Amino acid sequence: MADEKKLVNENVPGNFFVDRTCINCDTCRQLAPDVFADQGEYSYVRTQPVSPLEEVHAMRALLACPVGSIGNRSKIKPNVMDDFPLPITDDVYYCGFNSAASYGGNSFFITHPEGNWLIDSPKYLPHLVRRFTALGGIKYIFLTHRDDVADADKYAAEFGAQRLIHRDELSAQPESEIVIDEREQLDFAPDFKIIVTPGHTRGHMVLLYKNTVLFTGDHLAYDPDDDSLYAHESHCWYSWAEQTKSMRRLLAYDFEWVLAGHGNRGHLPRERMKEKLSELVARMH
Ligand SMILES: [Fe+2]
Repeated sequence: MADEKKLVNENVPGNFFVDRTCINCDTCRQLAPDVFADQGEYSYVRTQPVSPLEEVHAMRALLACPVGSIGNRSKIKPNVMDDFPLPITDDVYYCGFNSAASYGGNSFFITHPEGNWLIDSPKYLPHLVRRFTALGGIKYIFLTHRDDVADADKYAAEFGAQRLIHRDELSAQPESEIVIDEREQLDFAPDFKIIVTPGHTRGHMVLLYKNTVLFTGDHLAYDPDDDSLYAHESHCWYSWAEQTKSMRRLLAYDFEWVLAGHGNRGHLPRERMKEKLSELVARMH
C-alpha cells in the first residue's frame, strides 16, 4: 500500500502518486509510459491519466508494482485484476505482479498444446494460480538465471511443474527438476530452443519460442526511445566479454520479439531485429 506521507516530490498533482519505497525497476514505465517517468533513482507520475485507457494502464502498473509504491486516491477505480496475465501476442502473455524477490523482473506465460510454460516467476498469488489454472496449468518453468526465480518453487509445487535451470544457477532453486548442462544450445522440444548465454551470470539462458519470440532474461532488452537493443553493462555480474560472445552467437537465430526480464520489450521485423542486434554486438566490442 503506497504511503501518502512518503510522496516523491516530482509527482504532478492528481489521483495517482508514487512514494519513496519505489525501487526504480521500470515496471510501471513499461505498462504506462505516458503516466510514469524515471527521475533517476525512482519513478514518478509525470502526467495524470486523462483517457479511460490511460487510467487502465496506470491501474495495471499499480497492481504490477513489486513493492506497492503506487497509489490511486480515486474512489472509483477500474478493475484490472483479471487483465493479468496480459496477452502480448498469440499465445504469449506478460504475467504482471512482478516480485521484489526478483528485483521487479518481468515474467511471462505461454499456452501450448503440449503443456504451458512460465518464464521466470511472478509473486505467488491465489489470483494468478486461478488464472493459470483456467489457462490449463503450468508444465514447465523456465528460469533464465538465478536473480529472477522469485516464487518458482511455489508454482512448481502447486502445478507439479518442472523447473528448468542451468547447473551454474542451480543454487537459486536447488530442487529444480531439470538441470541444463549444455554450453551452447539445446533443442528442448518442438517450438522451444534453449540458448545458453553466459555473461550477466555464468549460467544465464534465453528461450527461443517458435523462432519468433526470444525471452531474454537480463541478457538483452529493447530501448523504445532510441529504437535500439541494449545490454546492462553496469548490471553484468559475471563477464562482459562472455556476454559479448553470447550476444554475437544470437546473430545465428531469427526472432521478432525480445521479451526482457528487466527493461522494455521490443517487436521488430526479423531483418530489422537482426540489424539492431548486429549494431549492439559492434557497440559491445
Ligand atoms: Fe539478473
